[in-house]
Amino acid sequence: MRFSTTLLLVCLLTGSQANAQFSQAYRDSIRALSEADYKQMLDQLGIDPSEMRHGPSGNPSDPNAANTDESKAKTYEMLPDALVFNNGDTVRSATEWLTLRRAEIVELFDREIYGRVPDNVPDVTWEILSVLDTVDGPYPVIIKHLVGHVDNSGFPEISVDIDLVIGTPAHSKKAVPVITEFGFNWTAAQLARFRSRQPEGPTWKQQLLARGWGYAVLVPVSIQADNGAGIAQGIIGLANKGETRTPGEWGVLRAWAWGASRAIDYYETDPDVDASRLGIEGLSRYGKAAIVAMAYEPRFAIAFIGTSGAGGTKLLRRNLGEQVENLASSGEYHWFAGNFIKYAGPLTKNDLPVDAHQLVALCAPRPVFISSGAPDVEGQWVDAKGMFLGGMHAGSVYKLLGKNDIGANQFPAQETALTDGEIAFRQHEGGHTTGPNWPYFIRYASRYFEK
Ligand code: GCU
Repeated sequence: MRFSTTLLLVCLLTGSQANAQFSQAYRDSIRALSEADYKQMLDQLGIDPSEMRHGPSGNPSDPNAANTDESKAKTYEMLPDALVFNNGDTVRSATEWLTLRRAEIVELFDREIYGRVPDNVPDVTWEILSVLDTVDGPYPVIIKHLVGHVDNSGFPEISVDIDLVIGTPAHSKKAVPVITEFGFNWTAAQLARFRSRQPEGPTWKQQLLARGWGYAVLVPVSIQADNGAGIAQGIIGLANKGETRTPGEWGVLRAWAWGASRAIDYYETDPDVDASRLGIEGLSRYGKAAIVAMAYEPRFAIAFIGTSGAGGTKLLRRNLGEQVENLASSGEYHWFAGNFIKYAGPLTKNDLPVDAHQLVALCAPRPVFISSGAPDVEGQWVDAKGMFLGGMHAGSVYKLLGKNDIGANQFPAQETALTDGEIAFRQHEGGHTTGPNWPYFIRYASRYFEK
């Protein structure tokens, strides 16, 4: 059966990409539609496709495999300085950072990297679909399932319904801290399959409940599809009335982060949630979304950034693992503003006006825990040291604000928790997961949440 565009759009609208029945035909259609949108973005940017450089391969045995040799990683001369204004003047005080320089950096990330949220994004109305008084292992929990209806009266052809689940301890007398994960709202069968592959021990949700805290799962693909094919759908398409983006408009990471802010709007109305003690967590592309959400949303008090790699806390200038050319390809460009594509064509990564350390700096003075897995299990694509360096080089801003930096100037040995400062780092011995770092993150967060 040839996959029809109509069916594809239905899938994008209902967020049912994960459905295996669409398999290869579905994926081929997504790829073709993504490439078409990518091509029109190149046209808008005035870039000929032949000008675009290809990224290295993530398969270590390919002839064009990404670099994994640390001695070849530092091909850049210097990083843009968070504490030097665009005009070359030095930032001299916390006030200058907070009132002037920070805004300059936000503007550069908006314009060149993650894209700008349009002014006309419609409002969200939260509806509680169900409230379940139940247990999770030994922990009594109230689980609320919510949907955030986005007002689509301006363009009824597109509906966006944001999927959110919140679990809080059942017998708590007071509002509790809540850590929101960018994740999946799995069926019981999917959850059972996932759990059967996980090590024994309490889940992250159970660990939070054990502490007397709550958890939430926000489903990114209910906000915006994770591909270029869906860019004229979802919240981006709704704000654009079914049209595709111009080069400065928001990419998918920024859209997901916007959704996290809308979840906070709800938390502020829920008596079970203490909205002054909120955290955000995610892994991989959702780790990128988590650091973007933390940088842009001051109501998040803490972040747990799982293997965010390139486009997250990894320094983009480092030649190790995934490169700007990979991010700016037709498979990943949708995460970013169209403008970002330029840096893999007419411009290079050294032309980027900002790098990942400045994204971490935007979170200051709030605590950020950067997590990675072990290179021999997780692979080198994610560049654990590059993620550490993104945190380390944000230190000057934290110190200016009277806080502590990452507390090291060398990449630490595996399993060493650097958790004394407001920027924390730990590389666990496992693979592509935040799992083993949850106990460390919770201990770290309790320093702030249980003062
Ligand atoms: C790919 C991609 C990464 C991303 C990862 C994921 O490996 O290159 O940038 O983080 O997928 O999210 O699974």
